[in-house]
Amino acid sequence: MKCTACQEVDSGGTLGSGLSRRDFMKVCTAAAVYLGLDASFGAQIAEAAAAKRLPVVWISGQECTGCTETLLRATHPTLEHLILDLISLDYHETLLSGAGKQAEEALEAAMKAGGYVMVAEGAFPTKDGGVYCKVGGKPIVDILAEAGKHAAACIAIGSCSSWGGMPSASPNPTEARGAGEVLKMKGVNIPVMNIPGCPPNPYNFLSAVLYFVTFGKLPDLDDKGRPKFAYSRLIHENCERRPHFDAGRFAEKFGDDGHNQGYCLYKLGCKGPETYNNCSTLTFGDVGAGSWPVGMGAPCFGCSEQGVGFTVPLHSPARLVNVTPPAFFSPIDGAKGGGVTAGAAAVAAAVVGAAVGAGLATSKKVGEVEEGKGK
Ligand code: SF4
Ligand code: F3S
Repeated sequence: MKCTACQEVDSGGTLGSGLSRRDFMKVCTAAAVYLGLDASFGAQIAEAAAAKRLPVVWISGQECTGCTETLLRATHPTLEHLILDLISLDYHETLLSGAGKQAEEALEAAMKAGGYVMVAEGAFPTKDGGVYCKVGGKPIVDILAEAGKHAAACIAIGSCSSWGGMPSASPNPTEARGAGEVLKMKGVNIPVMNIPGCPPNPYNFLSAVLYFVTFGKLPDLDDKGRPKFAYSRLIHENCERRPHFDAGRFAEKFGDDGHNQGYCLYKLGCKGPETYNNCSTLTFGDVGAGSWPVGMGAPCFGCSEQGVGFTVPLHSPARLVNVTPPAFFSPIDGAKGGGVTAGAAAVAAAVVGAAVGAGLATSKKVGEVEEGKGK
């Protein structure tokens, strides 16, 4: 059950997963950069990760397994590198080679040893004593609480585990809740970090794990328990279509000229202006620029934002949170406004964000465009 692959560098300079020492250093340096640390912290992360693999127990509730799937798509590190070199995955219902009694014994042994990080995936139904999701004949809420008692910390991966996500959508027939809320209800007080998203970006999760491995604590969290290194900016701040928003150029319908030319998707229901995440800068799937929902022409539906994703209608206009238009509109040559850099967009947003009542000004601007004045 438990992986016993050697984590030490063998005589050929490779780790248990076959990753070279050099590539291992690259992974750790990339993680340092994602975390907002100086790249020189890469060596410290590598040293900590090589010294001891972090024991991890993975508890799955009401879920589609998409959060585990997203890790399968990560290439730096790959899932096998994560499991064989960086952590000791002691229990995971989807990835275990054993089943039944053997699997339950693995969980019991991990709980006896304690001190692991508990990763919670999926929502946790609380109605009727939690009977709507059981594993091994026990309600998953009880398994979560029991495993939580022996954990050093909990990482709730995905929106379902962070705050209920899709299973908690109205009318929430099973009274599904996030892991942190259920742990509190059960009197289990351990640090909880949320990595929301449907699915979340695997590198946000992996970077947070490496932070814990290195510093023995969770990274700085915001008021919703999310790591600030990943969730402190609105998607709208660094969106490649932002210049079109500022210039008042919107796609009006899917497939119209504006949509084809990469105009802003606000009028199609894009929730980027009220969703905090780093999708636009980190992107997905390691296939290069543009590989994120808005980059491919689909409005952000706020999958990672509690009270937005799975809550408000897909095509209703977003609330404008801290979103302001620039003081003046600069000309944009490219059809997609590709000239803006993430940093430039962030600086522009920060500067104009100080203007009192600027959110109202944005609403006015959008209104003018809707009336045909701003085109
Ligand atoms: Fe990008 Fe959406 Fe903001 Fe438009 S509304 S700039 S598409 S995040
Ligand atoms: Fe989700 Fe919006 Fe990012 S839908 S994946 S938060 S662009």
